[in-house]
Amino acid sequence: MKIVVLAGGRSPERNVSLSSGIKITNALREKGHQAVLIDLFLGDQLQDVTNIDEIFDRKPAPQPKVISDEILTNAAINKLRTDGTRGLFGPNVLKICQAADIVFLGLHGEDGENGKVQAVLDTFDVRYTGSDPLSSAMVMNKKISKELLFQNKIKTARYVAVSKNDAEVPPMDFGFPVVVKPTSGGSSIGMHFAHDANELNSALADAFRFDNEALVEEFISGREFSLGIVNGIALPGIEIKVNDGWYDFEHKFQDNKTTFVTPPDLPDDVHEEMKSIALKTFKVLEMANYGRIDFFVNADGIFVIEANTLPGMTPLSLLPQEAVADGISYPELCDQIVNGKVV
Ligand code: DAL
Ligand code: MG
Repeated sequence: MKIVVLAGGRSPERNVSLSSGIKITNALREKGHQAVLIDLFLGDQLQDVTNIDEIFDRKPAPQPKVISDEILTNAAINKLRTDGTRGLFGPNVLKICQAADIVFLGLHGEDGENGKVQAVLDTFDVRYTGSDPLSSAMVMNKKISKELLFQNKIKTARYVAVSKNDAEVPPMDFGFPVVVKPTSGGSSIGMHFAHDANELNSALADAFRFDNEALVEEFISGREFSLGIVNGIALPGIEIKVNDGWYDFEHKFQDNKTTFVTPPDLPDDVHEEMKSIALKTFKVLEMANYGRIDFFVNADGIFVIEANTLPGMTPLSLLPQEAVADGISYPELCDQIVNGKVV
């Protein structure tokens, strides 16, 4: 198949996405596809294109690197915008997508994961991997997705939402410590723990660098897990054990900072319950094709932290590790995602 792998873009998770995109592109090539990696926002590789078909024969993508800690804030993204390209799609990007059999979305965060790209592709009848615009938008917005989880009796942390312009934090029916995160974010960017009102204020100020709204959540302690779903099948899941601190950006994307256990060491009944909550969450949030649900488990039960419609596919990401534990190699996983896309 001719496959465009879209990555990069103008989200704070731009670099994470490029790492996913490079690995996905190489894997699809290994499976015999004509795959090409395109930066959604900059349209890299497209500047000198005269014949759209020729782009699919370009040289292989470079090897993915472990990610640098460069994170794009709103200010940096605005600078990117004024540096040349304007709008979500770089020059020629839509055109090359229209020449492909399917677009593999290697995007993460914000405008790559919130349904906007998906809506443009739908408008132009371009097939793509992952969930549709509505599901993407609901999942990317943690306030909306948590409300759907509450309604469907799926346990998740209580929260209050705070807007950038709010004079004060609304009353919380839980105490400190709390977890602060941008409402629509990923990879723990702009996320902090706060133990008192002072820490809460500085945490909010940082979260607002990435979003105009933030969530203040009750702190749920316990063991941390994640469980991927591919084409309706729950993968074995994975336990995340950080060597020190918590599973932040650094622990997610730097080597040797985190120990992963897959399949996780859990009693059978808890393991089965986690799989069934993951599948229920996937359904409630109307996700499609593939995705990943993150959890905390403690004596009070199994809590969903959040869902991800475009989970990381980097060398250290969770879903691919679970797939390997289940006998599905990384290239095979990419192939299953492409072939399992129904629409
Ligand atoms: N947002 C990152 C890429 C993840 O969920 O893996
Ligand atoms: Mg996430």
